[in-house]
Amino acid sequence: MAVGERDPITGHMTTGHEWNGIKELHTPVPKPVWFFLIAFTLFGVIWSLLMPSWPYGTGYFSGWLGIDQKRTVAKRLDEGAAERAAWAARIESEDFAAVLTDAELMPIVRETGHTLFGDNCAACHGVGGGGNGGYPNIVAAPTLWGDDPATIAETIRVGINGADPETRISQMMAFGRDQVLERPAILQLVTYVRSLSGLEEQTEANAAAIEAGRELFAQNCVACHGEDAKGLKEVGAPDLTDHFWIYGSGREAVYQSIYGGRQGHMPSWGLRLSPLDIKILALYVADLREQQHAAGGDGT
Ligand code: HEC
Ligand code: HEC
Repeated sequence: MAVGERDPITGHMTTGHEWNGIKELHTPVPKPVWFFLIAFTLFGVIWSLLMPSWPYGTGYFSGWLGIDQKRTVAKRLDEGAAERAAWAARIESEDFAAVLTDAELMPIVRETGHTLFGDNCAACHGVGGGGNGGYPNIVAAPTLWGDDPATIAETIRVGINGADPETRISQMMAFGRDQVLERPAILQLVTYVRSLSGLEEQTEANAAAIEAGRELFAQNCVACHGEDAKGLKEVGAPDLTDHFWIYGSGREAVYQSIYGGRQGHMPSWGLRLSPLDIKILALYVADLREQQHAAGGDGT
């Protein structure tokens, strides 16, 4: 075997082999390549021993370190469920007043309630509960059926004109369409009703309409809205003297309320949500109402 010599062009040694004048250069795999090849192979073997890795028939090798994402997630879920069960039991068993003053439970009520409200209620009542045409402001307006938290929970559970057999029934009849009152009489009622919240100017013509409207109101409306027009919770009739309107305060909107009647519909949530969810929602709404009250605003 010929001894290697240096190739003048590349500067490499040759192996000493020569075929028909062609000499083979001696170019071994560079050291860094060997280094990384060995290092990564070692790393791979060690890593696959430490971490969950090799699958076999019914499972997989879960690693010497015991760091298993699957088990970690399952464990966290178990912990979460246990935590939830603990606060759920307390919210279910304690009465409304106790939960509302509980500094530990209320943050949970606010967070869970916010999600439940966003998922189920905001489409009609607005994200903050401030209402929308045809859907009442449930944060600031006086309630139709009663505003202590247990009553709110009951209203949510049975709904209003809903599918539950115990649903609250809200029926304002159609005075115009059913020909109980003529158009001029309804117009007088519109003026009277709007005057109760200061929406009508004190002109002479208005004064006459207001007087006539007062009479008509006493004859047709007080059974539900009350002598003072402040509403009756027994029938869910709204206060007509405040500045909250479900269907609008303009003359046309009020005319429509009296002409065509109103039968608001709120789903019977007891048929869709668990008793716990309904209680959380009632607490959430009650808490929003309390905060609104404390802030002195009316949310409009
Ligand atoms: C499909 C629309 C709709 C959805 C969704 C809805 N509501 Fe209502 N809700 C109404 C209407 C309409 C009224 C008023 C009924 C009336 O005018 O008589 C109402 C009234 C209320 C009231 C007032 C009761 C009172 O005494 O004044 C509360 C509180 C309430 N809803 C809570 C909720 C909660 C909580 C949810 C979610 C679980 C929800 N609503 C989802 C339509 C809806
Ligand atoms: C049988 C009971 C009943 C009678 C009688 C009645 N109302 Fe109502 N009224 C209601 C109820 C309940 C509502 C709420 C309807 C709803 O939102 O579901 C209502 C709603 C209204 C509204 C809409 C208020 C708003 O916030 O937009 C006006 C206006 C009104 N009534 C005026 C009258 C006038 C005027 C009369 C007499 C001509 C009258 N009502 C007679 C039960 C009654």
